[in-house]
Amino acid sequence: MAIRVAATLKIPDLIAQGECHPDRLASDSGVDPGSLLRLMRHLATAGILTERPSGGFELTDRGETLRSDHPAGLRPWPDTTGALGRSDLAFFGLLETVRTGQPAYEGVFGRPFWDDLSETPELGDSFDTLMASERGRAADEIAEALAWTSVSTVVDVGGGTGSQLARIVKGNPHLRGVLVDLPATAAAAGRHFVEEDVASQCSTAAGSFFEPLPPDADLYLLSFILHDWSDTAAARILRRCADAVARNGRVVIVEHVLDDSQTGRRITGMDMRMMTTFGGRERALSEYAALAETTGLKVVQAQRIPSGASVIECAPAT
Ligand SMILES: C[S@@+](CC[C@H](N)C(=O)[O-])C[C@H]1O[C@@H](n2cnc3c(N)ncnc32)[C@H](O)[C@@H]1O
Repeated sequence: MAIRVAATLKIPDLIAQGECHPDRLASDSGVDPGSLLRLMRHLATAGILTERPSGGFELTDRGETLRSDHPAGLRPWPDTTGALGRSDLAFFGLLETVRTGQPAYEGVFGRPFWDDLSETPELGDSFDTLMASERGRAADEIAEALAWTSVSTVVDVGGGTGSQLARIVKGNPHLRGVLVDLPATAAAAGRHFVEEDVASQCSTAAGSFFEPLPPDADLYLLSFILHDWSDTAAARILRRCADAVARNGRVVIVEHVLDDSQTGRRITGMDMRMMTTFGGRERALSEYAALAETTGLKVVQAQRIPSGASVIECAPAT
């Protein structure tokens, strides 16, 4: 929690900008100086900061990773004012989740995660920004993993603010893209398409992926969507894709899969988040295949991209 508070107050950023004395850091951050000093001393014990004899503090290598400009992009995750750092507080309900099989989030915050985001724009914005930066690193790999020459229209289902779709169409001028997402996120995607100069190729369809999707596209992309949902809900989303896809088209699932690889073992932590926050789950490749089968789709190809995610291509079974 001390690390979360330091990340939320951006203490590592302030130290990196040259401010190292707790009193001045406290006045820059508008917090209680005595409490901040105690927090920073604890962070020194925890290996995030070191305390100099002068009374100033500096960042350790671990502390450096909490800077906003660090390439690992970790800082927004523990920020308790952002959607995901805040949602981690639902981990206090993990016992209840394990007892009941239901996500704790609603009990802690009074409504399901996605409703909370829709009704609290700053939370929605923080989630969208974090997703765009997370995917930023893998967007090229996902775009390159698929053969686009035979595709004329791609629907990015739950496509977020559009960075993935913009990346895909930029390398493929013949492609048209449609992004489906909830209204505020779809509106942000529309703005992103203009900024990225791809608005002539990309459009948005605000709405829910539990409703019928724009029909007859050759490729429906589900990038980090199904893990947010229970098997029942994930099958409903896949079924919408299966109903909409053109006869020779593909439904492509991008997810980290549970297996014995380094990525596969690391995502058990994310699986706990899926369980407590969303009522979703991380899955093995065989579980995605079984899910696809229940909706009339079959896995025809699966490959792992260098950053660790798997790109799972499904085709209509008949
Ligand atoms: C984990 S994010 C993934 C975003 C993007 N595909 C990516 O790979 O970064 C899940 C997305 O699902 C969207 N979403 C959640 N519920 C939805 C619904 N019922 N219909 C459409 N989109 C939804 C969210 O707004 C969010 O953009």
